[in-house]
Amino acid sequence: MKSNRSAGGADVLAEAWAEWVPVLAASAMTTAESPHWAAHRIDAALATIAPLTARHTAGVRPRLERVLAALAAERVGVQHFASVSGYGHGDQGRVVLDRVFARVLQAEAAAVRLQFVSGTHAIAAALYGVLRPGDRLLALTGRPYDTLEEVIGIRGSGQGSLAEFGISYDELPLTAEGLVDETRIAEALAVPTRLVLIQRSCGYSWRPSLRIAQIERLIAQVKAIQPACDVFVDNCYGELVEEREPTAVGADLIAGSLIKNLGGTIAPTGGYVAGRAELVEQACCRLTAPGIGSEGGTSFDLNRLLFQGLFLAPQMVAEALIGAELVAQVFSDLGFAVNPAPGAPRSDVIQAVRLGDPEILKQVCRAIQAASPVGSYLDPAPAPMPGYASELVMAGGSFIDGSTSEFSADGPLREPYILYVQGGTHHSHSALALERALQALQGPARLTPES
Ligand SMILES: Cc1ncc(COP(=O)(O)O)c(C=O)c1O
Repeated sequence: MKSNRSAGGADVLAEAWAEWVPVLAASAMTTAESPHWAAHRIDAALATIAPLTARHTAGVRPRLERVLAALAAERVGVQHFASVSGYGHGDQGRVVLDRVFARVLQAEAAAVRLQFVSGTHAIAAALYGVLRPGDRLLALTGRPYDTLEEVIGIRGSGQGSLAEFGISYDELPLTAEGLVDETRIAEALAVPTRLVLIQRSCGYSWRPSLRIAQIERLIAQVKAIQPACDVFVDNCYGELVEEREPTAVGADLIAGSLIKNLGGTIAPTGGYVAGRAELVEQACCRLTAPGIGSEGGTSFDLNRLLFQGLFLAPQMVAEALIGAELVAQVFSDLGFAVNPAPGAPRSDVIQAVRLGDPEILKQVCRAIQAASPVGSYLDPAPAPMPGYASELVMAGGSFIDGSTSEFSADGPLREPYILYVQGGTHHSHSALALERALQALQGPARLTPES
């Protein structure tokens, strides 16, 4: 099938259909039978990605080995599942959980807390914890994720952003190809800088996510110019995708969400920070209070889910990666631009598809929602969301509300109408949901084989 990577939306779909009409006719398929077209596309894509599926499945073992080694080294037992109520002082389960996460994340220390509302909250605690009035924050990977705009003070006012606390902010724009502009790092670091922010995953932008080797190179460049400048990495969606985490290659502090990769699809909420012990403590002082830091906060007797989620995480991440490969293959076969391209290296679980049309975006989300285990009857209408400037359409009928480690799809309702797909507990679910999406796209309201 001819691929038109620069186009998107209805034109691409029309072209794809035009090419399929003779195929359908040749196999004597009628319009009524056309749902088989979707199933055949999925089966063909599954066959194409089989080597990638095998590679991601093989990747589970070394990561699981790391998790098992951490659980064994910290002698995790059932006694760690309970927690201390009230202040949560001296909570052995929490202390051991932190140590296990630190080992898995290849960091000196970690703080894993259900009190982190989200990844944004954990990142905000890290930034507020480390930065002081008069400090400079520099983003090396262009504009940070949407929800950090209000944290930094790029958008909105009156809520106590970093800018309102006297922290200055600059960003190094990405190149036209969406890459870090490594030729301008020295220029960007010409003035004293307290913290550099690197975003590993693409977020809601059409750019390649950063590989660990690239993060390693960027950190080395920063440290060569300003050895005292710390590097923070927004690690959302990247955990366990590669063999090493940013903290293994020189990142001073990282943060992320537990309803993404590391929660293994069963952590009920929460987030983590990890890195140098001193900086982790500073982030915790922002989460709780100076003087309390990491030593307070109950785990509500939910530690088992966090340990067990971590144990499941390598498998869940691999399933999500296989699902992402499938999405890439299916939509690429139909002629849509996809990012990453099929078979390209991955550093996170996000798969972007440039649909180029708000109606197609909504239709695909609707189909994925209908194939969800929870709330299949709901129609995901675009709506404002706290922290975001654009309206979002989100398909995520997940057991943990808002979990994007379960199969989910979303996108901001803005040009060029990119669909972001992620997560999935088993790639059979991703396949079924995608089949529904293709069926929706070939429906009478859109294009039919006869048209
Ligand atoms: C790169 C990146 N950073 C931060 C966040 C924010 O995470 P949360 O939605 O848990 O606040 C996201 C969410 O999608 C993200 O993609």
